[in-house]
Amino acid sequence: SEYETILAERKGRVGVVTLNRPKALNALNSQLMREVVAAVEAFDADAEIGAIVVTGSEKAFAAGADIKEMQSKTFAEVYSEDFFSEWDRLSAVRSPIVAAVSGYALGGGCELAMMCDFIIASDTAKFGQPEIKLGVIPGIGGSQRLTRAVGKAKAMDLCLTGRNMDAEEAERAGLVARIVPAADLLDVALDAATTIASMSLPIARMAKEAVNRSFETTLAEGVKFERRVFHSTFATADQKEGMAAFVEKRTPKFVNG
Ligand code: HXC
Repeated sequence: SEYETILAERKGRVGVVTLNRPKALNALNSQLMREVVAAVEAFDADAEIGAIVVTGSEKAFAAGADIKEMQSKTFAEVYSEDFFSEWDRLSAVRSPIVAAVSGYALGGGCELAMMCDFIIASDTAKFGQPEIKLGVIPGIGGSQRLTRAVGKAKAMDLCLTGRNMDAEEAERAGLVARIVPAADLLDVALDAATTIASMSLPIARMAKEAVNRSFETTLAEGVKFERRVFHSTFATADQKEGMAAFVEKRTPKFVNG
């Protein structure tokens, strides 16, 4: 395979990226970062792929950025290379991305899960931003995305004490879309992604873009954006097909156009 720290495979119309540094609990070093970004971007550019799953192992989605790799870096180095900014490219991915999280999703692991569009967690999942215990703060968006996901109270609690929250607490707080038994995690995530991939890809991308807009703008502007994109769905063959199929009581055959 062209990758060493991840596995990238296709399951039907779903692209699956599995973090694969088991000895380091999938700690996110620069090679793994480059490979995840490259694999996800390749799936995003692939017309045969309609959704992407990012997952880790049963014990760890990812135990954070690689502490051993970054411990001796200087300010000048991290500033010059704009350390971690490469992860921002995941935010530009247009196809829906599901995070399937089992075990530790700490620090950069929690942040990577939050860069995906939604999180399906196993009942063993543990989320946290423990950076403060290492003398740093979150650096891949954790202080921002966690606050938007769970609110200020819990985000402050997690970022300041460094404690973990379990799957139950994460679901109650709105970080996690669903909790499933650990043994079913990949099946359920693949099922969700396969369902998404059976929709019209451009329409799914528009839905993703519209939900994401709510994080960037005011309510009035966001509703206006949604309305205009909604209008534009009527320019697609898939809107005609989807509505005709409903009226004719049959399954739609979307053409992704
Ligand atoms: C490098 C890591 C690692 C990490 C685990 N390992 N996490 N290596 N970076 N983030 C390595 C360990 O050193 C060890 O290697 C092996 O993986 C197994 O880990 P153990 O600690 O032996 O496992 P266990 O006792 O089960 O404990 C699991 C754990 C613990 C609770 C998850 O590993 C842990 O606390 N990890 C660090 C979590 C963390 O602080 N994450 C945030 C990172 S900072 P050896 O070779 O010793 O066997 C971050 C910053 C983002 O993400 C941006 C701001 C800069």
